[in-house]
Amino acid sequence: GVTAKIAPSMLSSDFANLASEAQRMLDCGADWLHMDIMDGYNLNYRLLHKPFILNHCKLMAYLDCHLMVTNPLDYVEPLGKAGASGFTFHVEVSRDNWGELVQRIKSKGMRPGVSLKPGTPIEEVYPLVEGEHPVEMVLVMTVEPGFGGQKFMPETMDKVRALRKKYPSLDIEVDGGLGPSTIDMAASAGANCIVAGSSVFGAPDSAQVISLMRKSVEE
Ligand code: DX5
Ligand code: ZN
Repeated sequence: GVTAKIAPSMLSSDFANLASEAQRMLDCGADWLHMDIMDGYNLNYRLLHKPFILNHCKLMAYLDCHLMVTNPLDYVEPLGKAGASGFTFHVEVSRDNWGELVQRIKSKGMRPGVSLKPGTPIEEVYPLVEGEHPVEMVLVMTVEPGFGGQKFMPETMDKVRALRKKYPSLDIEVDGGLGPSTIDMAASAGANCIVAGSSVFGAPDSAQVISLMRKSVEE
């Protein structure tokens, strides 16, 4: 079976206090820390270096990195060195080299995942899940990638349902617009890894939001 992983998106955190924000999320019950890495907007990436991980917050956290970049291959080596745990690339930019990419990610000790945008058909990721070097997670984007605080797109749940039916034990992650009012839709469709930025960081009680989402997945 699959277990719930609740992953606050650090994109919604106070960047000036990233280390203490990360620790606060772990104290609030987060399983993973979701790190959004984008071309031209690499503040999170620059902060994801060794001193941050080793010194600032004694992080033994699982760093769930989501690469919204044109050339994910360029990030494998530096992210591996920085202590990333999961490395999720987008299928839209990796149609020609995902086999090599997955092997390189694994060789750096990271867990490979593939993501797809709302407009990309789910069939595109099947070969990556079933390949000789398979990805270990599929991230179904539930908003257009780019920024936090957008509205959840319920129509993306068809893709989650199709994936869950085909792969009963696969980690299926959802990202964008998840919070107390949308979690049940995602959980009942079969998602078990939940990214949440604004709903967690914007709440007066982040721990309560995290535990509510966990309950919904584990029900
Ligand atoms: C969007 C990012 C998300 C974002 C989610 O491009 O991939 O991780 O931070 O933020 P919310 O939960 O506010 O939609
Ligand atoms: Zn993300």
